[in-house]
Amino acid sequence: MSSSSSRRVTLLGATGSIGRSTLAVIARHSEAYELYAVTAQRSREALLEICLRFEPARAVIGTQHDAEWLRSRLQEAGLTRIDVCHGEAALLEVSQAPEVDTVMSAIVGAAGLLPTLAAVEAGKRVLLANKEALVMSGGLFMDAVSRHGATLLPIDSEHNAIYQCLPMQHRDGLSRVGVSRLLLTASGGPFREWSLAALETVTPDQACAHPNWSMGRKISTDSATMMNKGLELIEACWLFDATPAQVEVVVHPQSIIHSMVGYADGSVLAQMGNPDMRTPIAYGLAWPSRIDAGVEPLDLFAVSRLDFESPDEVRFPCLRLAREAMVAGGTAPASLNAANEVAVQAFLDGKLSFLGIARLVQATLEATEVRAADSLDVVLCEDARARQLAERLLHQRSFQRGRT
Ligand SMILES: NC(=O)c1ccc[n+]([C@@H]2O[C@H](COP(=O)([O-])OP(=O)(O)OC[C@H]3O[C@@H](n4cnc5c(N)ncnc54)[C@H](OP(=O)(O)O)[C@@H]3O)[C@@H](O)[C@H]2O)c1
Repeated sequence: MSSSSSRRVTLLGATGSIGRSTLAVIARHSEAYELYAVTAQRSREALLEICLRFEPARAVIGTQHDAEWLRSRLQEAGLTRIDVCHGEAALLEVSQAPEVDTVMSAIVGAAGLLPTLAAVEAGKRVLLANKEALVMSGGLFMDAVSRHGATLLPIDSEHNAIYQCLPMQHRDGLSRVGVSRLLLTASGGPFREWSLAALETVTPDQACAHPNWSMGRKISTDSATMMNKGLELIEACWLFDATPAQVEVVVHPQSIIHSMVGYADGSVLAQMGNPDMRTPIAYGLAWPSRIDAGVEPLDLFAVSRLDFESPDEVRFPCLRLAREAMVAGGTAPASLNAANEVAVQAFLDGKLSFLGIARLVQATLEATEVRAADSLDVVLCEDARARQLAERLLHQRSFQRGRT
């Protein structure tokens, strides 16, 4: 049962991997958190199940047809008070609704940008899992956070770890609080030890079978190419006002240390825990308090050792491409993200090889002009331009399956 003092949450992307983990944490603390709205794009059966179980005030799905289907199933179940809507405008509405305190941003990809920004502009507590929003519009996004007094809490496990290892006053600048570097850990993905020749043969199912984390197919593929770490490097620069040179990527195959902060006096603070997204989600929901996330305590004797390696940017060039895009600045990260989304989808659809992902992103960036990212219109325009270009390049002979 909810009470008048409970926090009301909009869960964008409720049917995804982060969405399901968020529901699991909320279910453990139903007295403290009440679901106001849940959203999905296509997964109508999964959204129906969530509505039946949690009885939110509102549900949003991608199309009118699916909204009608959902409405009639809910009517049959006697849940007529759940307001069912569809489309982008409805996503913005449930992100900004005055009834809502907290918005979990867990839509995958660029589609998360506008609803997340809407939540920021309404001054909500925003739990940011969707990294693509910040990668695309970094400066504009962070300006909006401070202008509208939103509370931004990173949910990506690495950024959440860094946030936990920083003093509260870090917003005054990293060097003022004695931080010398941010150490972003990476599992290295399922192909950490594979040769370039073996990487030629990677299939979508292999790429989506992450050794430590259970995640959606897009981020799993990004983890396998290490583009995920590249996007996270960009995300870390924006979140913590760091330069790309201040962010060091450390491959740590056990995924027990979720990231670290190095200080001027030689101290390195790490946040550790089992690799389970319910931990950062619970942190974001309860901040500045702590609540039980339902995660097993870390058994250090079972872990027994922690290994660290430097990343190999020859076999995993996406990390380099992302760093270069952040250094280039302006709209380069938005173009990188757009090209990557096209490339990953093509790979998952069997139209592009695994190594072709980095090649397609690189070719798109080489043919793209960098503009100042001084408005959302410019960012969205460059996003669309990079997508079109990547789609065109994809049809060239050199990118056809078997040639990359
Ligand atoms: N999974 C993790 O462990 C993890 C960790 C850190 C960060 N993240 C980030 O969190 C975000 C979500 O990741 P995920 O793994 O949870 O993804 P996912 O399992 O693929 O779920 C994505 C969610 O977004 C919805 N969605 C997809 N396209 C949409 C669109 N065009 N408009 C509106 N909603 C749309 C999906 O609805 P349908 O089900 O209807 O398609 C689903 O609810 C990503 O940005 C990812 O990088 C994930």
